[in-house]
Amino acid sequence: MAPLTSWFAGAASLLAVAGAQHVVEDPQAACSKFGETFSRENVTVNFVHHVPAGTNLTLSQEGPLATCGQAAQVAPVDLCRVAMYVATSNRSGITMEAWLPSNWTGRFMSTGNGGLNGCIKYVDVAYGASFGFAAVGANNGHNGTRGTAFEGNSDILEDFAYRSLYTETIVGKAVTQAYYGKNINHAYYLGCSTGGRQGFKMVQDFPELFNGVVVGAPALAFNNLTSWSGHFLPITGSNTSSTWVPPSKWTLIHADILEQCDALDGAADGILEDPTLCRYKPIALQCPSNATNTSTCLTAPQVVTVQRIFEDYYGKNGALIYPRMQPGSELVASNVIYTGQPFPYTEDFFRYAILNDPTWNASTLDAETAAYAAALNPFNIETWKGDLSAFRNRGGKIIHFHGLRDGIITSENSPRYYEHVARSMELAPSELDSFYRFFRIGGMEHCSGGDGAWSIGQEAVEGLDQVGQDAQANVLRRLIEWVEEGEAKAPETVTGVKYVNDTVGLGVEFVRRHCKYPLRNVCRDAERHQDPEAWECIL
Ligand SMILES: *[C@@H]1O[C@H](CO)[C@@H](O)[C@H](O)[C@H]1NC(C)=O
Ligand SMILES: *[C@@H]1O[C@H](CO)[C@@H](O)[C@H](O)[C@H]1NC(C)=O
Ligand SMILES: *[C@@H]1O[C@H](CO)[C@@H](O)[C@H](O)[C@H]1NC(C)=O
Ligand SMILES: *[C@@H]1O[C@H](CO)[C@@H](O)[C@H](O)[C@H]1NC(C)=O
Ligand SMILES: *[C@@H]1O[C@H](CO)[C@@H](O)[C@H](O)[C@H]1NC(C)=O
Ligand SMILES: *[C@@H]1O[C@H](CO)[C@@H](O)[C@H](O)[C@H]1NC(C)=O
Ligand SMILES: *[C@@H]1O[C@H](CO)[C@@H](O)[C@H](O)[C@H]1NC(C)=O
Ligand SMILES: *[C@@H]1O[C@H](CO)[C@@H](O)[C@H](O)[C@H]1NC(C)=O
Ligand SMILES: *[C@@H]1O[C@H](CO)[C@@H](O)[C@H](O)[C@H]1NC(C)=O
Ligand SMILES: *[C@@H]1O[C@H](CO)[C@@H](O)[C@H](O)[C@H]1NC(C)=O
Ligand SMILES: *[C@@H]1O[C@H](CO)[C@@H](O)[C@H](O)[C@H]1NC(C)=O
Repeated sequence: MAPLTSWFAGAASLLAVAGAQHVVEDPQAACSKFGETFSRENVTVNFVHHVPAGTNLTLSQEGPLATCGQAAQVAPVDLCRVAMYVATSNRSGITMEAWLPSNWTGRFMSTGNGGLNGCIKYVDVAYGASFGFAAVGANNGHNGTRGTAFEGNSDILEDFAYRSLYTETIVGKAVTQAYYGKNINHAYYLGCSTGGRQGFKMVQDFPELFNGVVVGAPALAFNNLTSWSGHFLPITGSNTSSTWVPPSKWTLIHADILEQCDALDGAADGILEDPTLCRYKPIALQCPSNATNTSTCLTAPQVVTVQRIFEDYYGKNGALIYPRMQPGSELVASNVIYTGQPFPYTEDFFRYAILNDPTWNASTLDAETAAYAAALNPFNIETWKGDLSAFRNRGGKIIHFHGLRDGIITSENSPRYYEHVARSMELAPSELDSFYRFFRIGGMEHCSGGDGAWSIGQEAVEGLDQVGQDAQANVLRRLIEWVEEGEAKAPETVTGVKYVNDTVGLGVEFVRRHCKYPLRNVCRDAERHQDPEAWECIL
């Protein structure tokens, strides 16, 4: 694995992107002074604490926050932690935190959320602080993972659609500048899933907020996505129905998919580098008519279920609601959305945000319901504007990525959005390159994890000092360089790392460069598929 050292020769580049280092001389005093003096309309400061590097902070798990599932977060650097409540209307508001490193680079970063959740994503806030960003995160207008708070309060829904991140960013910037007594040099955003949608929402509607965004697996076309996530239940039926396919059979189906499609990219390595090329046919798994034991084959109704799961989802008058689930993701998807149970986000969103009917039965979701949600589109949560000129004209940069083994949000929606932008702006990919680059990450599950080289700097990795990592293997660093040093630092590929058992301490299993859309990854030497040099990006 000789080439590996070069991916990590990052120590020198740390200085190159250090930015305008600003050191707070007495952070303890500065932090306490800030708590006494900061004041802004609609903002209540809950507490201000000076936090020495390495402190293991205990996080609130009160009430619905227990569902956020995070009890503690280590502060990676010495910082001032500011916790606030910000009213967004007379019946809504966000809780947010700003983590202000004592060694500040002059950069600012907002972070997003996931699912329908109102959970500050502390891991991302800490990741940002570790790079010397003044980093902020908010609860998206409500606490916990459920969407019940939307019931009868459209202001909370408005926070979720766009206002929480907008407010977090405006207030976060004010807090940052007040604390350091200096202007922010550059403002960034990092988010995945709902966080990816939130980032694109700001790019679309508030283009002045950020100089650069890293947006992963974005929940774009949100109403339709929610219908699509829910449409699997009517297809599979409940888990006692003859049409339902149990997880054990999805293991067989996954193996059959690899059999049919794995080598399409030149390497039978368990990773589909371009699942759009995979037109999977489950028919070979159909049980013979004389079968007495059907546990290792698909019954005829199950074959139909599998076929329908891998078809694009069309609604009334042949309108595309959402592209199909990409093949390859079934080991995850079978345990999340093919379970024969209502998908919680779909159930909550329809009950409390769309239909205002807390008894709505998710098994009845149909094309009419989907069309109703798309037409209602509360607070334009759809997030589908294709004209990004305002963001581009201000010099903004977008790194968009999507894992090709995503079992929660099909990766086939991301190229659809990229192409929508290309058509809306009448720009060829070579022209979009100046501000918008999209990378498909082979073998990555939803935002992280999977059999592929999925560690690309999109999140903190336990046991890895990413601050010193080479920009080529870290999308956040890459974005900083692209924004601050220009076109020459724009990513042509994104280098991913697969650690042995996803454990840094066990070493690197392999490295692979991921291609910029519309290019796809092909292997020129199947024997050496773990060598990044064996792969090539082609049209
Ligand atoms: C932080 O504290 C939690 C318990 O609140 C514990 O589970 C975790 O291991 C601690 N982390 C570190 C790095 O000490
Ligand atoms: C404070 O909140 C109200 C809505 O409750 C809003 O109209 C006003 O603009 C906010 N003020 C600031 C400074 O954001
Ligand atoms: C809250 O604000 C709305 C509109 O912004 C207004 O119609 C309503 O009267 C206000 N309610 C209270 C209790 O102030
Ligand atoms: C700030 O960074 C300098 C090096 O640039 C280092 O010597 C110092 O220990 C850092 N201070 C804190 C509080 O992290
Ligand atoms: C959310 O939890 C925080 C504690 O972190 C609490 O201060 C706030 O009041 C809660 N918000 C709501 C809407 O319950
Ligand atoms: C089927 O769903 C029920 C809940 O409705 C659950 O209790 C049961 O464990 C599930 N069975 C299987 C085989 O997944
Ligand atoms: C089913 O029929 C095939 C031939 O069509 C035969 O090879 C197989 O042994 C039969 N299986 C059973 C369980 O009878
Ligand atoms: C059916 O086949 C599976 C796998 O070969 C085996 O585990 C199971 O015991 C069989 N069931 C019956 C009823 O024979
Ligand atoms: C939901 O609808 C399905 C399909 O119409 C039906 O079988 C099921 O009984 C309903 N569930 C409830 C709780 O009403
Ligand atoms: C959403 O679905 C509707 C049909 O229900 C369709 O007309 C519309 O174009 C879709 N929107 C997007 C962004 O795909
Ligand atoms: C990786 O995990 C597998 C399965 O959990 C285990 O068998 C293997 O020993 C682990 N490898 C290392 C190097 O720890």
